[in-house]
This record gives sequence, structure tokens and C-alpha cells, in this order.
Amino acid sequence: MADLSTSICGMKLRSPLILASGITDTTGASLLRAIRNGAGAAIIKSVSVEPREGHKGHVVQEFDDLSMINAMGLPNQGIKHAIDELIEAQKRTDAPLIANIYAGTVEDFGLLAREISKAKPAMIEVNISCPNVHDEFGTPFSALPEAAAKVTKEVKKNTSIPISIKLSPNTIAISQVAKAVEKAGADCITCINTLAGMLIDIDTAVPILSNLSGGISGKALKPVAVKAVYDCHEVVKIPIIGTGGVLTGRDAIEHIMAGAGAVGVGTALFYRGQEAFSLINAEMKEEMKRLGYKSIKEMIGLAHH
Ligand code: DHB
Repeated sequence: MADLSTSICGMKLRSPLILASGITDTTGASLLRAIRNGAGAAIIKSVSVEPREGHKGHVVQEFDDLSMINAMGLPNQGIKHAIDELIEAQKRTDAPLIANIYAGTVEDFGLLAREISKAKPAMIEVNISCPNVHDEFGTPFSALPEAAAKVTKEVKKNTSIPISIKLSPNTIAISQVAKAVEKAGADCITCINTLAGMLIDIDTAVPILSNLSGGISGKALKPVAVKAVYDCHEVVKIPIIGTGGVLTGRDAIEHIMAGAGAVGVGTALFYRGQEAFSLINAEMKEEMKRLGYKSIKEMIGLAHH
């Protein structure tokens, strides 16, 4: 029998599937729902120091085949609320719950790391790669190795909880950024955040999202994500949470063979419902049986020859 249980960064997972940070996980209840439905762990949507309303108007759109683009503008209720939300949710599950922090300055990343540590999350994911708030915060830290390393060092200085830096495909060399954050002390990397894109309504000649551009997720993102995981696995020793376009068991295994030790799932919840985790778990087991694999660990990085 194929065994889906695994571990990453000291977290014991009954499945390698992790609810990815994003639209589907703004509350403690949504984290618990993912766990109940078969996720091995769950990551909450990014929190900032102060509450944010996010962008107004049209913020999310499906397109083509099983793909989405969104520009929520990082809506959240602020760090104080997130601490309570995580503490309350963790009382109701043994599965690892993971925080996610977002800031516009290196100092605020440090402050958020220190504050969110009070909730004792199993890990802190660091969102240096939101493609949608350039106007307010400038170029994302994930675009350049030095900027990404600076945030990593500041976060490490402010917490003893393992951290995963969430990298972006919107950079010239993701593997250089991966190397820089590893050297700066990152315990893990999440590969990848959404890819910047745009949809235009040709009847009105107007971009569809109110923010004009947004982050692409789902099927359109998968090959980009798999290559990013592959390229990073070539150059870093720290584990990788592969995220991007995982809709089926095959997609999850592809990420693992590229080098992921665990796999984020987000957009799949829109297309396969809340049962996405149990469905993908069953499909993974089926594929592993067919291919003769018994464990997750034996498949990690197999595509590297
Ligand atoms: C948003 C943030 C992200 O990190 C992302 O990948 C997509 C959208 C947002 O809240 O706008």
C-alpha cells in the first residue's frame, strides 16, 4: 500500500498536500475544513501589521481551462486578529497550521514574525512575492536575491519557528533567489507564488481586473511551477513546498518528482470543491500503486538525472 504520510521541516504530515495560502483560507475555520478533508497541513492567507480592505471591484476571474487570475490586494484583518484565529484553530487540530506574513518593509516583516510567533504556528511562510500591490509597496522583495535575503535574515532574527520563503516566478532567476534565501537562513522555500498576468475584455478594450493585472493560478501555472521547483531543487538543500496548478494526483507527483517535499493546493478547491484534498490523495495513492512507489520520500526529486 502506498503511504502518503511524510514530514517536512519537523512537521509530521499525514498527506503531503497543504492548503496553500490564498483566497480559500482567510479564516481558522477554512484551515480546519481543509484538514478535515484530507490536507496534511494548512497555511493561512497573508496577514499584515494593520488590517487591509484590499482592492475594490473585479478581483478574481476564471479563464481558459481550470485557470484563475486574482488581485485581492491582500485583504486581511491585521496581525492581532490573525494571532487569535490561529490559536483558536490550533486548539481543534493536531495537524500543523502555518502562518503567512506580508509587509512592505524589512522591519515590518521582522515585527510580524515576532508577533505571529505568539500563536506558535508550526511554520511561518513569508510572502515576499505578491504581484498585486506594487503601487503601494514597490517591487516585490522576491524579484532580487539581495532583497529576498534581507527579509529572510530579519525574519530569522525575530523568530525561532521554521520559516519558508515564498518565491515568485516574476524574477530573472528564481534559483539565484532560492540560493540567496537559503544562505540567509531560510528553513524551506515555497515554490511558487502566482505569475503576474492580465486579461483584457476586447469589447470594451478594458483590462478585466480592477487592479489591471493579477496573479495567475491553476492549470496555466503548473508547468511554470514545476520548472521553478526543478530549478530550485538543483541548487538548494532545504526542502521545497511545491505550489502551483496542482489539481490532480498526477500534478502533485509531478511537483514531488521535480523536488518538492510537500505540495500546496489552492485553486483546485474552486474546481473540485472542498473534497479536493481527499480526491487528490486517492489519485496519488492510485498512481503510486501503478508506478510501484510506496512512500512520498522515495519520489522526491526523481526527475533529476
Ligand atoms: C494576492 C496576493 C498574492 O500573494 C498572490 O499570489 C495573488 C494575489 C492578493 O491578495 O492580491
